[in-house]
Parts: sequence; structure tokens; C-alpha cells
Amino acid sequence: MNPSPIGIFDSGLGGLSVLREVRAMLPHESLIYFADSRYAPYGDKPERFVEARTLQVCEWLVAQGCKALVIACNTATMHAVQTLRERLHVPIIGVEPGLKPAALSSQSKVVGVLATANTLKSAKFNRLLTSLADESQYLCAAGHGLVSLIEQGDVSGPAIREKLDLYLRPMLDAGADTLVLGCTHYPFLSETIRDMVGNRLTLIDTGTAIARQLARKLAEFGLAASPDATPAIRYLSTKDASHLREMAWALLNVEAGAETVAIEPAPAIGATE
Ligand code: DGL
Repeated sequence: MNPSPIGIFDSGLGGLSVLREVRAMLPHESLIYFADSRYAPYGDKPERFVEARTLQVCEWLVAQGCKALVIACNTATMHAVQTLRERLHVPIIGVEPGLKPAALSSQSKVVGVLATANTLKSAKFNRLLTSLADESQYLCAAGHGLVSLIEQGDVSGPAIREKLDLYLRPMLDAGADTLVLGCTHYPFLSETIRDMVGNRLTLIDTGTAIARQLARKLAEFGLAASPDATPAIRYLSTKDASHLREMAWALLNVEAGAETVAIEPAPAIGATE
């Protein structure tokens, strides 16, 4: 039995959609949620930055005593999970767009994939796409601008709807009946998407699968917390802890202490805000 916290990392608020599923499945575990909001979005940053910054923050989380890490960001997973697994000696759980569950769910065999530009152009995503031995057609769209709006707290306003319409209409016109939410920010748009397209698209989000994988890894490595443990949740942000706290409350109804932390990118990372 191990009472140490699990680190959940994202470029910003999106990983809260994963935290929600982790809490539901593992209510006794203590969690540290880390939002690198000062440097979000990662989806349009140089790949080198995403990899180095993810490693820097995850090393810091391990130094804080995290017993396992959830990389609750598709973009960071695509570019950094291999390096993290080579360098860090705790279980690392990554996320990837749910193409396989989408293929199983789709009747029309036309699947839309909405993800960041960096995820869509990564080698890991393209290997995943070509490894699928099914006849489905995957229509990929980069959700430019969505993460920045969600970071500001907009999940349903006219700007979000206009962008969603731009990205989803070609998918619907081509006969898509399933949409992969390939960025952890996007589950917070589910209600708005539902409002816009009704039941025409089945939405695929991998939060529950990630929580299940985390539970398996904790059991495998003997790291689970005791069922009697009183869990603690901490929110950390590199930008504005009170905004993170308010958004976590608005999106999840989860109240917890929040701190702003300053972790300057190492000079070699070389990206600006
Ligand atoms: N939540 C991240 C993901 O899953 C967002 C990436 C970004 O910051 O652009 O890809």
C-alpha cells in the first residue's frame, strides 16, 4: 500500500477530463494535477519544445514524490512518452486518440478525428493510423483555436461553435457517424457538440480507459493506496492557480487547494510563452 500521490499532467485544463475518471475509479488515491497553462497550447508549439518541456515537468513531479504519472495530454504523449519511459523510473500512463474503439463503434465506417495539429503530424499517431487493420476511413481535422478558448473558460460560446462547425461539417457531409475526441480538452465540448449535431455522432473519449490502465499499473507494481486512505488533491498551475481552481470547480465540481508554481523552461528548450 502506497499513499504517495499520482501526478496528472497536461498543457492546461484538458487533463481535468482525465482526473474526473481517475477520481471515479480510484477514489482513495491522492492526486497532484499539473496544468502548464503558461505554455499552453502545446498543439502548435515546436515538437522539440513539447518533448523537452514534458520531460522537465514530469521530472519535477517525480521529485515531488509522485509514484506514477498520467500524461493526460495526447500531444505530450505523442512526442514524449518514449523518452519519459526511458528516463523516469515510475509507471507512465499515456493517452492516445481512441481510433480502435471508434472503428468498433462506427456503422458507416467513416470516423472523424479531432486532435491538435502536433498530434496529427506525429509519427506515433501515424503509426497507430496505419496499424489499424480495418476498412474504416479516418477524416482528421486539427482543432486550431479550440484549446485556447477552453483555457479561457469558453466551452459553449459562439466562437467555439463556429470552429466546431468548420471542423465537423466536412466529416458529417462525408458520412461520419463517430467522432474521436483526440485531445483531452475536447471532452469539455461534448455537450456543445451534442447540442449542435444531436445523435449523428458517437463521441469517443478515452478517459475511462486511461483510469482503468492506471489501476492495472498500480496493482501490477504494488503501488495502490489503502482503501482506508484519506485522499488529497492539489492543483498546480504555471499560470494562474485561482483560474485553475475555478475551472476545476465549474467543470468537475471538485474543490481543492491550488498553487501557482514557476518552472522556467530550461534554456535549451528555447520556446517563448
Ligand atoms: N490536452 C492536450 C491534448 O490532449 C492539449 C494540447 C494543447 O495544449 O494544444 O492534446
